[in-house]
Amino acid sequence: MTILVTGGAGFIGSNFVLDWLAQSDEPVVNLDKLTYAGNLQNLSSLDGDARHIFVRGDIGDSALLTDLLSRHQPRAILNFAAESHVDRSIHGPEDFIQTNILGTFHLLESVRAYWGALPADAKAAFRFLHVSTDEVYGSLSKTDPAFTENNKYEPNSPYSASKAASDHLVRAYHHTYGLPVLTTNCSNNYGPYHFPEKLIPLMIVNAQVGKPLPVYGDGQQIRDWLYVKDHCSAIRRVLEAGQLGETYNVGGWNEKPNLDIVHTVCALLDELKPRADGKPYKEQITYVTDRPGHDRRYAIDARKLEQQLGWKPAETFETGIRKTVQWYLDHPQWVADVLSGGYRDWVEKHYGGNDKSAT
Ligand code: NAD
Ligand code: DAU
Repeated sequence: MTILVTGGAGFIGSNFVLDWLAQSDEPVVNLDKLTYAGNLQNLSSLDGDARHIFVRGDIGDSALLTDLLSRHQPRAILNFAAESHVDRSIHGPEDFIQTNILGTFHLLESVRAYWGALPADAKAAFRFLHVSTDEVYGSLSKTDPAFTENNKYEPNSPYSASKAASDHLVRAYHHTYGLPVLTTNCSNNYGPYHFPEKLIPLMIVNAQVGKPLPVYGDGQQIRDWLYVKDHCSAIRRVLEAGQLGETYNVGGWNEKPNLDIVHTVCALLDELKPRADGKPYKEQITYVTDRPGHDRRYAIDARKLEQQLGWKPAETFETGIRKTVQWYLDHPQWVADVLSGGYRDWVEKHYGGNDKSAT
């Protein structure tokens, strides 16, 4: 038995692969294009581990997919691969359309052909799990109830629109072709290996080097935060027991305004690595121009997943954010390599002439 993970060198994907192989001996084929967001250093603890087969490639490359599927015969595919940063989607939406929409479409086509030719028992057991976001539901007011799986899709950014389109394609492949799909829509993740362009790691990294901590607009936008390993456990549970064709919201019941998040990060740094001048890190907070079309509030109602599949997050926000800040303090080389771009040389440096990514 084997699973195929796409985007497994990114933030959530790499956490998923590490957790999977810590709990199971079932091999993982990890297909990742290694865009700026893909970092093989996240997976360096798996060096030499035959259970992890890394392949550098694009989910939209049908020939590569057909070859990988026929060679490895996965029993499940978990699709993490995406362009994921809202600000980048505002500056340049094209990559988002290319990977999140067209890439998912080509992936679904390759998977449909593979699945259609499987023997009956393997066909029945097969799963395609699509990892998506709460942003597809749009923005809530302060008093709106949290998003349930029945909320209508109202995406507001090129990123969320491209994820919404991919969710619709996945849904359509189930209804039209019977492809055994599952979709998860999760809130904001945080934790180890988070690329420091996103709020929490950016604040941790900027604070330590004396840079401004840029808060968009009034900082009162609300997000629900989930520790990444809890997202990974939710995905494992949905893969194991989810009802075919269903979607599951995943969240941490941790709604917080952005400014509170930044204050919490600053307070933890004050405790764990005080500034040399003894001043509080929150002095570095700077209010900057708001994100265009900035969604005001996201909130997740995760009761379906909790009640039907018995999933619960293991971390509270307080325990998860402390672990996260500590992780960044404990991994200065990872941060330095990301900031210098050195992480991008990893494949070359590490695999040398014997590039495992070649298929
Ligand atoms: P990320 O940007 O850190 O990683 C994405 C990974 O996908 C990278 O390794 C990248 O190299 C790879 N990739 C990009 N385009 C590819 C392509 N065409 N073919 C193959 N690989 C490609 O993203 P993340 O934060 O880990 O998010 C993973 C998934 O989870 C995404 O689908 C995202 O929409 C979803 N999600 C993220 C969050 C969050 O808070 N980060 C929350 C909910 C859902
Ligand atoms: O809700 C799930 C989504 O969460 C995922 O689908 C996305 O892939 C992921 O990137 C994340 O999107 P957000 O836009 O919510 O995350 P980001 O970390 O970019 O921003 C979080 C909030 O903080 C948002 O309201 C914008 C604000 N922000 C962000 C940055 C980078 C700031 O105020 N300053 C910043 O510098």
